Amino acid sequence: MIPRTYQDRVIAPSLLAADFGRIQEETSRAIHAGADWMHLDVMDGHFVDNISFGPAVVQAVHESNDIFLDVHLMISRPDHYLPRFVAAGADLITVHVEADHDVAQTLRRIREAGCQAGLALNPATPMESVLPYLDQIDLLLCMTVVPGFGGQAFMDEVLPKIALAAQWRHERGLNYHIEVDGGIGAATAPKALAAGANVLVAGSSTFSAHLIRCV
Ligand code: DX5
Ligand code: ZN
Repeated sequence: MIPRTYQDRVIAPSLLAADFGRIQEETSRAIHAGADWMHLDVMDGHFVDNISFGPAVVQAVHESNDIFLDVHLMISRPDHYLPRFVAAGADLITVHVEADHDVAQTLRRIREAGCQAGLALNPATPMESVLPYLDQIDLLLCMTVVPGFGGQAFMDEVLPKIALAAQWRHERGLNYHIEVDGGIGAATAPKALAAGANVLVAGSSTFSAHLIRCV
């Protein structure tokens, strides 16, 4: 696995848009089409209004190939479930700043478990909420849709937050990735990259694309 820095552009297809009946083939299809990471969206039906999958599916993806697993926990108690996702083979675990947990402690525990730590914030959440944790993270996820469902439209109003995340990183001498998630495709990716993002999560635009279907 090639280590990536924030100066690398990383494409992370979201499994949420794949055919759940063929998870292994879908993951291989994404890898052959050029995926750098796989983005795995875990939803509990409480933090967001949708239920996706849990540690067993993360483990199945982990066991079927060796791609870097970027696990996005959209769950209310990430601290409680953390050990199960570590055991399942996650490489990077992202938790939401809005969830019900001690954020600093959860981020510390993710790193102590040998994983990279990510912190996510929703479009409506002010950037100041993540400020206290910037030196504890390997990735900041600026949600570009309200989380819960794939196939939503990219929210342009998040672009200034991405630029601020890059500015804060520079001012503080930090090196976290800036990830965008939601509505990313050929028309919106250039805007997110220009604002300072380097990790592009893409669900519908990758798994539904004709190009990748043919691989
Ligand atoms: C949204 C998820 C996303 C989603 C992106 O709640 O976190 O990762 O799968 O899907 P698209 O790319 O279709 O917007
Ligand atoms: Zn996601």
